[in-house]
Amino acid sequence: MKTIAVLTSGGDTPGMNTAIRAVYKMGVHLGYNVLGVYHGYEGLMTGKIARLTDQDMEDTVDRGGTLLRTARSEIFRTAQGRKHAMKVIEAYQIDGLFVIGGDGSLSGARELSKLGLPVMGLPGTIDNDLAYTDYTIGFDTAVNSVANEISKIRDTMRSHDRVGVIEVMGRACGDIALHAGVAGGADYILVPEVDPVAGYEKACNTLIGNKLRGKLTSIVVIAEGAGGANDFCEYVRDHSDLDIRPIVLGYTQRGGTPSSFDRVIASRMGAHAVKAFDRGAVNRAVGIRHNEIYDVDLTEALEMPRRFDRQMYELNEILAHF
Ligand code: F6P
Repeated sequence: MKTIAVLTSGGDTPGMNTAIRAVYKMGVHLGYNVLGVYHGYEGLMTGKIARLTDQDMEDTVDRGGTLLRTARSEIFRTAQGRKHAMKVIEAYQIDGLFVIGGDGSLSGARELSKLGLPVMGLPGTIDNDLAYTDYTIGFDTAVNSVANEISKIRDTMRSHDRVGVIEVMGRACGDIALHAGVAGGADYILVPEVDPVAGYEKACNTLIGNKLRGKLTSIVVIAEGAGGANDFCEYVRDHSDLDIRPIVLGYTQRGGTPSSFDRVIASRMGAHAVKAFDRGAVNRAVGIRHNEIYDVDLTEALEMPRRFDRQMYELNEILAHF
């Protein structure tokens, strides 16, 4: 009987559990012994590895977080750490490792593949910053959470004739801000991919213009990679008399039950990864393109340049016009 192992690494994301479940169920279906590695790559350092069971999978399809826990392992980043991980992998007779995480986690998997371990990568991050896939697992849930928060914040901002500036996560990627901004009817979206220098000035002028035309309440969605809500509010206070409030949404974007969309792609990607591995594919990244689940060489996937949806950004400028 062949053995595969699964781990989650980096920031947790809604849908990780659904993906683990799919890897486990498809693995068992195809006759594999399926192990869980706990606390991400740290588990490969400490040998915190256990055989997964049907009981472990109970109530996981819709549960946020990750039942395997996660970590950002410093020691795994070193060559010595990875050598040690390979010894643990050999001791557990692991024939293939399935890694669910963002670019750092998938890069870690690639390093192990260079040492001879067959790996498969699944995109688990709310940031949607992996170029090879249209969507990462967790992104849709994060966008829905932010869109809901925008509605609530708009209610209270409107009651006070205020401007609300909502900071969202995403690291250097503006996708959460863009999608949630469009979904929530934001008056301005600030992302690192557009106008990184003139962005504040343009946004501030838009808010002033809105007020002059009689719109006293505006909502700005700002990606953390574009400077952050506090920074932008300070700029606006220095350049206008607008009553403006920063709101940093933080980890509420990463928790909660995964959306149906995330559950569906996590299920499809998890199953696809194991089936592809079973057919002999190794060192591949699984993703979704034009609603088709596919796999691509891991190195190629990690080296693809990311494209920002400029058209959608410009569409919001029209939709937000007042
Ligand atoms: O990568 C996911 C993410 O939530 C980013 O959007 C954010 O910048 C970062 O993780 C926060 O990391 P931590 O959990 O270490 O605070």
